[in-house]
Amino acid sequence: MRKIGVGLLGFGTVGSGVVKILLENRQLIESRLGASLALKWIALRDLEKDRGVAVDASLVTTDPKMVVNDPEVDIVVELIGGYDPAKTFILKAIENGKHVVTANKALLAAHGDEIFSAASRKGVEIGFEASVGGGIPLIRSIKEGLVANSIQGLYGILNGTANYILTKMTDQGEAFSDVLKEAQKLGYAEADPTFDIEGIDAAHKLTILLSIAYGIPIDFEAVYTEGISKVTPLDIKFMKEFGYRIKLLAISKDDGEAIEARVHPTLIPADAMLASVNEAYNALYIQGDAVGNVMLYGPGAGMMPTGSAVVSDLVDVARNILRGAVGRVPSMGYQPDEVKARRIKSIDELETEYYFRFSAEDKPGVLSKISGILGRHQISIKSVHQKGRDLVGAVPIVMITHEAKEAAVKEALSEIDQLDIAKDKTVLIRIEDWG
Ligand code: HSE
Repeated sequence: MRKIGVGLLGFGTVGSGVVKILLENRQLIESRLGASLALKWIALRDLEKDRGVAVDASLVTTDPKMVVNDPEVDIVVELIGGYDPAKTFILKAIENGKHVVTANKALLAAHGDEIFSAASRKGVEIGFEASVGGGIPLIRSIKEGLVANSIQGLYGILNGTANYILTKMTDQGEAFSDVLKEAQKLGYAEADPTFDIEGIDAAHKLTILLSIAYGIPIDFEAVYTEGISKVTPLDIKFMKEFGYRIKLLAISKDDGEAIEARVHPTLIPADAMLASVNEAYNALYIQGDAVGNVMLYGPGAGMMPTGSAVVSDLVDVARNILRGAVGRVPSMGYQPDEVKARRIKSIDELETEYYFRFSAEDKPGVLSKISGILGRHQISIKSVHQKGRDLVGAVPIVMITHEAKEAAVKEALSEIDQLDIAKDKTVLIRIEDWG
């Protein structure tokens, strides 16, 4: 049976999952592929650390160059994470004519164009199924399963840590910092949890999805990014009363003229399908012009789910090698010379409904001052609740608006926050009421 040589760079959580799957499902994979995926090297930093998977000591090296330079390695799997040296090794592997599989969303969101161009010039493939949505086959679904569709909208819960935190805060009223510690213990969080809680990891993933959905160059800076660190149990309580759930959503919409691309805490109706995606699970709701609405759901992180996505790329690349069909599906889903920049809207152009929580003095005329300023900025109120005074005498006034322009909202809130009756900065959360 023909062997396709595989070399691993990095042997952490995902790497161990990949090796476990290659060992335990060897026969199954061979019967599907008609060849064997032969592990040639595992490059790791710490030889002593126990990964819970037994590997032949002769496969292990601390020198990544052994992996990227070995002629017997056909596919290099990069699981080091971070920007460098991961990028250096990937480019070296490509230069050496090797195909690359990576789970590195941060790297692709920053340097994807350079990596994809190098691979296309060299005629090798880049597999990155594991970079978005862990074990859920999101990349392949967009590039292949939905190839017939113009993608009109994407709504994703793409960060398990943030979803876990919001779920626990919503269901159990727990404080943000306590739940973050739990998520870190469970191993969902990035090495730097700022990436999870400030929306950066979700924005990396949305950046990758935008490229393959719309055939545009990688442009992380164009994605508006706001995290969940300022979400309070008080707002969660109020929004539940209005019939909403809060999710860190990664959203894109294409109106034909320009693309919206944003990640921020978002209120969605409690009966929306995405509202029932809880704990560390991920989901992507895709609107295609031909298919209609599709939702993909599953584990967005972890050793075996992410390992499953990496191995799916290995099999895919190996199938193309075996059939002489390398490049059958372009890495970004579009022919490289068809990848063209499109205008990405700034957040100020957004028109949506909003949740506001004002903290104001409790005295006559306060509500009319606030609604007067909103009215002057063409912001129409859909519903309003005034809550009881808190301990410091401020009264929370909670409002849901009709669709309003973000630029006008910012101006209005800045005026309101400067009033002498304002006790604290107004809380703003965007609403997606698409049902
Ligand atoms: N830190 C990421 C998450 C891991 O919480 O979703 C998967 O990319």
